[in-house]
Amino acid sequence: MAPYSEIHDEAHPHMTPRNDKVHLIDHPLVQHKLTLMRRKDASTNTFRTLLNELSMLMAYEVTRDMPTQNIEIETPLEKTISKVIDGKKLVFVSILRAGNGILEGMLSVVPGARVGHVGLYRDPKTLTAVEYYFKMPHDMEARDIVVVDPMLATGNSAIAAVDRLKELNPKSIKFVCLLTCPEGIAALQKAHPDVPIYTAAIDRELNDHGYILPGLGDAGDRIFGTK
Ligand code: URA
Repeated sequence: MAPYSEIHDEAHPHMTPRNDKVHLIDHPLVQHKLTLMRRKDASTNTFRTLLNELSMLMAYEVTRDMPTQNIEIETPLEKTISKVIDGKKLVFVSILRAGNGILEGMLSVVPGARVGHVGLYRDPKTLTAVEYYFKMPHDMEARDIVVVDPMLATGNSAIAAVDRLKELNPKSIKFVCLLTCPEGIAALQKAHPDVPIYTAAIDRELNDHGYILPGLGDAGDRIFGTK
């Protein structure tokens, strides 16, 4: 995985925040699947399947530095000390509704993780985030949070979600998306410079309607087949 500072976008140097808090997941399998998802003729089923597979691959990257503990086990040959993770300390927080498309893949890699949901919709005129739902597990102070949303576009939903989550004093917060753009990164990092961003691609720009270009269209509609 390349730190973003090594692959910054030459076309938008003025907008490109250079730091090691942005992790570009540039694994060939991730890039290949993302290309297939972007195609406008990918069916809902194909899109969802690819998102599921990509989410598993991204889960590997985002959990790379998860703490482990040693436990004693017995192999068929002898006793030994071996590492395990405490998946229950991890919370995947889905920004509804498109974030739900990432949950299944992530949970298949970390089945013990808890799940929270934040409901935010984008006001179509102002593009600001309005909260309508917020449900988290208990004891958030003891937990590491991974916020998931396929698209980090204006950054408004991500910022609003992280604002709310920080009120619960979690141990850490990371943000995972499939796609972002220089504007989304700049906005989230300005509001929350401590939150690392994991993404499979940093696209060219945001258009006037808050869509990422070239992007993949409306992620929610493509996951749920609502358009
Ligand atoms: N949300 C989407 O679903 N797509 C975009 O391009 C931007 C935000």
